[in-house]
Amino acid sequence: MDALVEDLLKLSRLSRAELKPKNVDLSAICDSILTELKRSEPAREVELSVAPGLHALGDERLMRVVLENLLRNAWKFSSKLPRAKIEFGYDPAEAAFFVRDNGAGFDMTYADRLFAVFQRLHTSSEFPGAGVGLAIVQRIINRHGGKVWARGALNQGATFYFTLPAEQKLPLEEIPALKLPADREYITPKPKTGSAQP
Ligand SMILES: Nc1ncnc2c1ncn2[C@@H]1O[C@H](COP(=O)(O)OP(=O)(O)O)[C@@H](O)[C@H]1O
Ligand SMILES: [Mg+2]
Repeated sequence: MDALVEDLLKLSRLSRAELKPKNVDLSAICDSILTELKRSEPAREVELSVAPGLHALGDERLMRVVLENLLRNAWKFSSKLPRAKIEFGYDPAEAAFFVRDNGAGFDMTYADRLFAVFQRLHTSSEFPGAGVGLAIVQRIINRHGGKVWARGALNQGATFYFTLPAEQKLPLEEIPALKLPADREYITPKPKTGSAQP
Protein backbone atom coordinates (compact mmCIF):
# COMPACT_ATOMS: atom_id res chain seq x y z
CA MET A 1 0.00 0.00 0.00
CA ASP A 2 2.80 2.42 0.87
CA ALA A 3 4.42 1.77 -2.48
CA LEU A 4 1.10 2.49 -4.20
CA VAL A 5 0.64 5.82 -2.43
CA GLU A 6 4.22 6.72 -3.27
CA ASP A 7 3.62 5.87 -6.94
CA LEU A 8 0.45 7.96 -7.08
CA LEU A 9 2.21 10.91 -5.46
CA LYS A 10 5.01 10.57 -7.96
CA LEU A 11 2.49 10.56 -10.80
CA SER A 12 0.81 13.75 -9.62
CA ARG A 13 4.11 15.56 -8.94
CA LEU A 14 5.34 14.67 -12.40
CA SER A 15 2.93 17.08 -14.03
CA ARG A 16 4.61 19.95 -12.22
CA ALA A 17 8.23 18.84 -11.87
CA GLU A 18 10.63 21.10 -13.68
CA LEU A 19 12.56 19.39 -16.46
CA LYS A 20 16.31 19.85 -16.41
CA PRO A 21 17.32 18.42 -19.77
CA LYS A 22 20.88 17.53 -20.59
CA ASN A 23 22.75 14.95 -22.58
CA VAL A 24 21.97 11.71 -20.72
CA ASP A 25 23.79 8.38 -21.01
CA LEU A 26 20.81 6.01 -21.10
CA SER A 27 23.04 2.94 -21.42
CA ALA A 28 24.89 3.76 -18.21
CA ILE A 29 21.59 4.19 -16.35
CA CYS A 30 20.37 0.80 -17.66
CA ASP A 31 23.63 -0.85 -16.60
CA SER A 32 23.31 0.42 -13.06
CA ILE A 33 19.63 -0.56 -12.73
CA LEU A 34 20.28 -4.07 -14.08
CA THR A 35 23.29 -4.55 -11.81
CA GLU A 36 21.04 -3.72 -8.88
CA LEU A 37 18.28 -6.09 -10.08
CA LYS A 38 20.81 -8.91 -10.51
CA ARG A 39 22.18 -8.26 -7.04
CA SER A 40 18.65 -8.43 -5.60
CA GLU A 41 18.04 -11.90 -7.09
CA PRO A 42 21.42 -13.48 -7.79
CA ALA A 43 19.96 -16.95 -8.34
CA ARG A 44 18.05 -15.90 -11.44
CA GLU A 45 19.57 -16.69 -14.81
CA VAL A 46 19.04 -13.65 -16.98
CA GLU A 47 20.90 -12.81 -20.14
CA LEU A 48 21.33 -9.04 -20.20
CA SER A 49 22.21 -6.97 -23.21
CA VAL A 50 22.67 -3.21 -23.06
CA ALA A 51 23.74 -1.39 -26.24
CA PRO A 52 26.64 0.82 -25.16
CA GLY A 53 26.79 4.61 -25.38
CA LEU A 54 23.16 5.45 -26.20
CA HIS A 55 22.52 9.10 -25.34
CA ALA A 56 19.53 11.41 -25.58
CA LEU A 57 18.40 14.80 -24.40
CA GLY A 58 16.44 14.36 -21.18
CA ASP A 59 16.10 14.99 -17.49
CA GLU A 60 18.48 12.46 -15.96
CA ARG A 61 16.51 11.82 -12.77
CA LEU A 62 13.23 11.34 -14.62
CA MET A 63 14.80 9.17 -17.31
CA ARG A 64 16.10 6.94 -14.54
CA VAL A 65 12.49 6.60 -13.31
CA VAL A 66 11.39 5.62 -16.84
CA LEU A 67 14.12 3.01 -17.27
CA GLU A 68 13.61 1.65 -13.76
CA ASN A 69 9.94 1.05 -14.47
CA LEU A 70 10.54 -0.56 -17.87
CA LEU A 71 13.46 -2.73 -16.73
CA ARG A 72 11.70 -3.76 -13.51
CA ASN A 73 8.70 -4.81 -15.58
CA ALA A 74 10.96 -6.76 -17.94
CA TRP A 75 12.60 -8.39 -14.92
CA LYS A 76 9.23 -9.22 -13.32
CA PHE A 77 7.37 -10.48 -16.39
CA SER A 78 10.28 -12.72 -17.40
CA SER A 79 10.67 -14.16 -13.89
CA LYS A 80 8.93 -17.45 -14.69
CA LEU A 81 11.36 -18.38 -17.43
CA PRO A 82 14.30 -20.64 -16.63
CA ARG A 83 16.41 -18.47 -18.89
CA ALA A 84 15.23 -14.91 -19.35
CA LYS A 85 16.55 -12.29 -21.75
CA ILE A 86 16.39 -8.54 -21.21
CA GLU A 87 17.65 -6.05 -23.73
CA PHE A 88 18.03 -2.28 -24.02
CA GLY A 89 18.86 -0.78 -27.39
CA TYR A 90 17.97 1.56 -30.22
CA ASP A 91 15.93 0.29 -33.16
CA PRO A 92 16.62 2.35 -36.30
CA ALA A 93 13.55 0.93 -38.06
CA GLU A 94 11.32 2.38 -35.33
CA ALA A 95 13.62 5.34 -34.66
CA ALA A 96 13.14 4.57 -30.98
CA PHE A 97 14.89 3.24 -27.92
CA PHE A 98 13.49 -0.02 -26.61
CA VAL A 99 13.39 -2.33 -23.59
CA ARG A 100 12.64 -5.92 -24.56
CA ASP A 101 12.11 -9.15 -22.66
CA ASN A 102 11.15 -12.68 -23.64
CA GLY A 103 8.68 -13.19 -20.78
CA ALA A 104 4.93 -13.47 -20.30
CA GLY A 105 4.06 -10.89 -22.94
CA PHE A 106 0.49 -9.68 -23.42
CA ASP A 107 -2.36 -9.73 -25.91
CA MET A 108 -1.92 -6.81 -28.35
CA THR A 109 -5.69 -6.25 -28.39
CA TYR A 110 -5.27 -4.50 -25.04
CA ALA A 111 -1.96 -2.76 -25.73
CA ASP A 112 -3.38 0.78 -25.30
CA ARG A 113 -4.71 0.05 -21.85
CA LEU A 114 -1.31 -0.71 -20.36
CA PHE A 115 -0.46 2.97 -19.94
CA ALA A 116 -3.58 3.90 -17.99
CA VAL A 117 -3.44 4.04 -14.19
CA PHE A 118 -4.47 0.78 -12.46
CA GLN A 119 -4.77 -1.11 -15.75
CA ARG A 120 -3.06 -4.48 -15.62
CA LEU A 121 -3.23 -7.39 -18.02
CA HIS A 122 -1.93 -9.85 -15.42
CA THR A 123 -3.36 -10.77 -12.03
CA SER A 124 -1.52 -9.87 -8.83
CA SER A 125 -1.28 -13.55 -7.96
CA GLU A 126 0.58 -14.17 -11.23
CA PHE A 127 2.76 -11.03 -11.02
CA PRO A 128 2.53 -8.51 -8.17
CA GLY A 129 2.04 -4.81 -8.92
CA ALA A 130 -0.34 -1.89 -8.67
CA GLY A 131 -0.48 -0.79 -12.29
CA VAL A 132 0.93 2.72 -11.96
CA GLY A 133 4.45 2.30 -13.42
CA LEU A 134 3.62 2.63 -17.10
CA ALA A 135 1.38 5.65 -16.45
CA ILE A 136 4.42 7.31 -14.86
CA VAL A 137 6.57 6.30 -17.84
CA GLN A 138 4.09 7.76 -20.31
CA ARG A 139 3.77 11.01 -18.41
CA ILE A 140 7.53 11.53 -18.26
CA ILE A 141 8.09 10.70 -21.92
CA ASN A 142 5.21 12.94 -23.02
CA ARG A 143 6.59 15.80 -20.96
CA HIS A 144 9.85 15.40 -22.85
CA GLY A 145 7.96 15.67 -26.13
CA GLY A 146 8.44 11.97 -26.90
CA LYS A 147 6.19 8.96 -27.42
CA VAL A 148 5.97 5.53 -25.83
CA TRP A 149 4.26 2.41 -27.15
CA ALA A 150 4.36 -1.33 -26.67
CA ARG A 151 4.38 -4.49 -28.74
CA GLY A 152 3.98 -7.98 -27.45
CA ALA A 153 2.36 -11.37 -27.82
CA LEU A 154 1.06 -13.68 -25.16
CA ASN A 155 3.90 -15.82 -23.77
CA GLN A 156 6.27 -14.39 -26.37
CA GLY A 157 7.69 -11.39 -24.60
CA ALA A 158 7.18 -7.66 -24.84
CA THR A 159 8.97 -4.64 -26.28
CA PHE A 160 8.46 -1.12 -24.98
CA TYR A 161 9.59 1.63 -27.36
CA PHE A 162 10.13 5.29 -26.53
CA THR A 163 11.40 8.36 -28.34
CA LEU A 164 13.21 11.40 -26.98
CA PRO A 165 14.64 14.42 -28.73
CA ALA A 166 18.06 13.40 -30.07
CA GLU A 167 21.08 14.67 -28.19
CA GLN A 168 22.01 18.20 -29.32
CA LYS A 169 19.85 17.96 -32.44
CA LEU A 170 16.84 19.82 -31.08
CA PRO A 171 17.21 23.26 -29.53
CA LEU A 172 15.68 23.24 -26.06
CA GLU A 173 12.96 25.72 -26.93
CA GLU A 174 11.62 23.34 -29.58
CA ILE A 175 10.79 20.63 -27.07
CA PRO A 176 7.03 21.11 -26.54
CA ALA A 177 7.18 20.31 -22.82
CA LEU A 178 9.72 23.04 -22.24
CA LYS A 179 7.72 25.89 -23.71
CA LEU A 180 6.69 28.36 -21.04
CA PRO A 181 2.95 28.45 -20.45
CA ALA A 182 1.28 31.53 -21.93
CA ASP A 183 0.31 32.91 -18.52
CA ARG A 184 3.99 33.34 -17.63
CA GLU A 185 4.01 36.52 -19.72
CA TYR A 186 1.74 38.16 -17.19
CA ILE A 187 4.02 37.23 -14.32
CA THR A 188 7.17 38.62 -15.91
CA PRO A 189 6.16 41.26 -18.46
CA LYS A 190 8.80 41.84 -21.09
CA PRO A 191 10.17 45.41 -21.20
CA LYS A 192 8.63 47.33 -24.09
CA THR A 193 11.05 47.96 -26.88
CA GLY A 194 11.93 51.59 -27.29
CA SER A 195 10.92 52.58 -23.76
CA ALA A 196 13.52 54.24 -21.58
CA GLN A 197 15.26 51.95 -19.12
CA PRO A 198 15.24 53.04 -15.47
N1 LIG B 1 7.43 -6.43 -19.80
C1 LIG B 1 6.13 -6.71 -19.76
N2 LIG B 1 5.65 -7.90 -20.22
C2 LIG B 1 4.33 -8.18 -20.18
N3 LIG B 1 3.39 -7.34 -19.70
C3 LIG B 1 3.81 -6.15 -19.24
C4 LIG B 1 5.17 -5.76 -19.24
N4 LIG B 1 5.27 -4.53 -18.70
C5 LIG B 1 4.01 -4.16 -18.38
N5 LIG B 1 3.13 -5.14 -18.70
C6 LIG B 1 1.66 -5.12 -18.51
O1 LIG B 1 1.27 -3.78 -18.25
C7 LIG B 1 0.63 -3.68 -16.97
C8 LIG B 1 0.91 -2.32 -16.36
O2 LIG B 1 2.29 -2.19 -16.04
P1 LIG B 1 2.71 -1.25 -14.85
O3 LIG B 1 1.98 0.02 -14.98
O4 LIG B 1 4.20 -1.19 -14.76
O5 LIG B 1 2.12 -1.97 -13.56
P2 LIG B 1 2.63 -3.17 -12.66
O6 LIG B 1 4.09 -3.41 -12.93
O7 LIG B 1 2.40 -2.68 -11.27
O8 LIG B 1 1.79 -4.33 -13.01
C9 LIG B 1 1.20 -4.87 -16.20
O9 LIG B 1 0.36 -5.25 -15.14
C10 LIG B 1 1.26 -5.93 -17.29
O10 LIG B 1 -0.02 -6.49 -17.48
MG1 LIG C 1 5.54 -1.93 -13.26
